[in-house]
Order: sequence, then structure tokens, then C-alpha cells
Amino acid sequence: MKVIGLNGSPRKNWNSAIMLENALKGASAAGAETELIHLIDLNFSGCRSCFACKRKGGKSFGRCAVQDDMKDILGRILEADAVIISAPVYFGDVPGMVRNLFERIWFPGLMYQKDGACAYTKKVKVGLIYTMNCPDEHFYDQLISSHKGTFERFLGETKVVCATETLQFDNYDLYVGDMFNVERRKEKREKEFPQDCERAFRMGKELAE
Ligand SMILES: Cc1cc2nc3c(=O)[nH]c(=O)nc-3n(C[C@H](O)[C@H](O)[C@H](O)COP(=O)(O)O)c2cc1C
Repeated sequence: MKVIGLNGSPRKNWNSAIMLENALKGASAAGAETELIHLIDLNFSGCRSCFACKRKGGKSFGRCAVQDDMKDILGRILEADAVIISAPVYFGDVPGMVRNLFERIWFPGLMYQKDGACAYTKKVKVGLIYTMNCPDEHFYDQLISSHKGTFERFLGETKVVCATETLQFDNYDLYVGDMFNVERRKEKREKEFPQDCERAFRMGKELAE
């Protein structure tokens, strides 16, 4: 059982990374071999629209042909039993590098066939983790259900965990902005974020079981 975790925050030690680490601990508790990859360390692009993945008889049929740091990881994702992707919400969506990853996973799987055929024959379970400033994850229901639906179409069963009203800075006094209730944030971090991490742990465990 192999579970790959991808951290889609440029910050390697903050909310998204912590949630992901917990999810991978859960997978590991269920006996999985885990690996954590920080997207920020990789040099890769989104889909380049070369269509090599769809070319009849082509050597990259059903696989991404783009030669960059994501090439090898995409192969490993498709061979893994589960993949867990953790991302902050940036302007109502995932950060650009996470979107690049999504395109690279999704597009080679998409066959332009009326029957909706998928090039991937093996199922890979998916965990999606979102962290955000927003106090209510349902604000992003449309975004999240669109990602979930697309992963279910191309890879397999997809579970989602969110952490809301995350602590964004160690010290709010150092930064401009009065829109945050800092006391509420700190309390949330101490009392509720550990529960979010626990839910991420359970999700990782379930994905690996
Ligand atoms: C560029 C940028 C854009 C953001 N946009 C949103 C947003 O649209 N909605 C939201 O709820 N939070 C937004 N946030 C807050 C982050 O999603 C939140 O702090 C997240 O937990 C950060 O993840 P990290 O700690 O793993 O880096 C934004 C943060 C940044 C840096």
C-alpha cells in the first residue's frame, strides 16, 4: 500500500502541510508506505496542450509527455494506492501550482470519447485537503465538489477535509489589516485545528485501509 502526499502550499510548515502530515500519519497507521512531496520544490508547468496523450498509436498515449519534474511523480501517482493533495484556498481557488498539478493528472486521463472513457484503468483513491481564511468551508462548495467530481472521474473514490479560519501569521501585529478577529484565530488554532488534523488523520487512515 503506497500513499503519496502533495503539499500545494508554498509554506512547508504551515496549515496545509500540517494537515497533510496528519493525513499521512493516518495512512501510515493503517500500514501504508507514505511519501510527502512539496510542490514548491518542483519545476513544472500545467498542461501544454501538446495532445501527445491523445495521439493515435503515440508512445505517450494516455500519459503526460511533458518532460519536467512532474513527469516521474505523475507516473508514481498512477501506480500508488492513494494520493492526498493539500492546498490553501487562494482567491477562491487552489494556488496556480496545484491547478497545474490537477491539469497534468486529469488531462491525459480524458479521452475525447462520447462514452466518457478514461485512459487510466487502475483506480487510485484521492484525499483532498483545503485550508482557508474563510470561516465556512461551504462557501467553496462549488469549487470543492467540482474538484472531487473530476478526481472521481479520473482516479477514484475521493474524500475531502477542510480547515477553516486558519492561523495565517505567527504575529498579527506585524502585518497590515484589521479584518481578522485575532483572538478567535488563536483560539481556533488551539482548540479546533487539532480536531481538523484529527479528521485529516482519519481520512488518511480510511484511504489506506
Ligand atoms: C495569495 C493568497 C490568497 C488567499 N485567498 C484566500 C481566499 O480566497 N479565501 C480564503 O478563505 N483564504 C484565502 N487565503 C488564506 C489562505 O487560504 C489560508 O491562510 C491558508 O490556510 C494558508 O495555507 P498555508 O498556511 O498552508 O500556507 C489566501 C492567502 C494567500 C496568501
